[in-house]
Amino acid sequence: MTVKTDLDALTPPHSALSVENPMKRDDPASVRDPQAGAPGEAPMVRFAGVTKRYGALTVLDELNLEIARNEKVAIIGPSGSGKSTLLRVLMTLDPLTGGMIEVDGEPLTHMHRNGVLVPASLKHLRRVRSKIGMVFQSFNLFPHMTALANTIEAPMQVLGLSRKEATERARDLLSLVGLEDKCNHYPSQLSGGQQQRVAIARALAMRPKVMLFDEVTSALDPELCGEVLNVIRRLGSEHNLTMLMVTHQMGFAREFADRVCFFSQGKIIEQGPPQQFFSAPQHERTQQFLRAVKEAV
Ligand SMILES: Nc1ncnc2c1ncn2[C@@H]1O[C@H](COP(=O)(O)OP(=O)(O)O)[C@@H](O)[C@H]1O
Ligand SMILES: [Mg+2]
Repeated sequence: MTVKTDLDALTPPHSALSVENPMKRDDPASVRDPQAGAPGEAPMVRFAGVTKRYGALTVLDELNLEIARNEKVAIIGPSGSGKSTLLRVLMTLDPLTGGMIEVDGEPLTHMHRNGVLVPASLKHLRRVRSKIGMVFQSFNLFPHMTALANTIEAPMQVLGLSRKEATERARDLLSLVGLEDKCNHYPSQLSGGQQQRVAIARALAMRPKVMLFDEVTSALDPELCGEVLNVIRRLGSEHNLTMLMVTHQMGFAREFADRVCFFSQGKIIEQGPPQQFFSAPQHERTQQFLRAVKEAV
């Protein structure tokens, strides 16, 4: 069953993928918000005064954060500080209580109508959200589908690709994550690290500009973390992707990220380049957190 959506009309033509650059995508300039800044000028993601509350609990507290094109940002902080919520509201899995988010120079949570910003329609949300991909701690693969079927599902259902196009794209991406020989395996026949790499390929199949990773190695045995981190390293160095990564792996954050943001109680209380952040943290709460992490290793 193929569900046609409003995205079909807006999706740029799909050029054949080359193995050299399976992430190549056409720029959907025709759907760019005419009131947004010129392409390339605006940050790729902008949180402006973003607040998220669950009842009386304020989880994100008037948060401001700008992420540049191709920037890799590591988000660290204690459990319950709002890190996953930050990614979830960006993925539009949860609505905001206040403030707004822009992606690629256009509002995500809002849209322009007659010169004023109004809450985004579902159609608008879907279109802007298609620029974002997310990978979760629990791989969330469809258990009754092979690696290949998992990877072609959304491009066919949401982007309206033919099975042939989606399959070509999926094979290239499964090869990119080192699983070309596992296309016909079901999740139960794959290790955790392999399942997580399928989940990464599946997110990439939508050709996002922004990738969100929420503790993607936390459920893996230590020896399987490495293979997933290597894939993320490759994506970071070989493809134009903006990345936000919630992680407890300080070593990886230090080596991979352009910037580290430290969350505490729904606010970023300290941020900076990894070298500076890890060697000379300024805030007492950051120092305390980094000490605790070090002792736990
Ligand atoms: N759907 C929800 N309903 C109520 N409270 C929630 C919900 N999701 C998260 N929270 C609460 O929001 C706070 C931040 O959660 P989360 O963003 O998951 O933290 P982190 O990822 O930093 O550990 C926690 O106190 C959590 O219990
Ligand atoms: Mg979390």
